[in-house]
Amino acid sequence: MPSSAETPDLDRRTLCACGLALAAGVACGGGGGGGGTTTPPPGGGSTTVTTTDTKAGLLAQPAGTVRDYTSSSSPCPNSVGAAQGYYLARDSGGIFAISASCLHLGGRITPNAGGFSCGCHGSGYDLNGTVTKGPAPVGSVLAHYEVRESTAGGVLLIDTSKTVSASTRLN
Ligand code: FES
Repeated sequence: MPSSAETPDLDRRTLCACGLALAAGVACGGGGGGGGTTTPPPGGGSTTVTTTDTKAGLLAQPAGTVRDYTSSSSPCPNSVGAAQGYYLARDSGGIFAISASCLHLGGRITPNAGGFSCGCHGSGYDLNGTVTKGPAPVGSVLAHYEVRESTAGGVLLIDTSKTVSASTRLN
């Protein structure tokens, strides 16, 4: 069952992540980036984040583009696996979704130039979610989740019940 902590906060997400990303020189937003809702599918048991991005729209953005679908929970909860929401990103291979929860103590990672960082204790990640700097375990990789179109040409969905390989891309 989804927890309320997984529900993205649209206003905070747009203001916070896009501001951070832009300040760090990371592509962000583009007008359509950002919004989304978390809805349990019929039958329950899994959680799908409905984004405001389309495959064509995101693929039209440069590699390094990051869209923010994080939650409004505490940014530094000191709780391993805390629900911090997700990032939808685009690299040279296509589109992917990763957890925004730091592998150290569950802090919310934020985009920077070339990847992500955690402001709680300083961990660093590359764009694909691999830890490049501790205290999170260097070499570990954030969870990647299935990304699919809601309908042909429709908005993208992040299925947080389905983890995928870190090399999986939608393109
Ligand atoms: S929770 Fe991210 S570095 Fe500690």
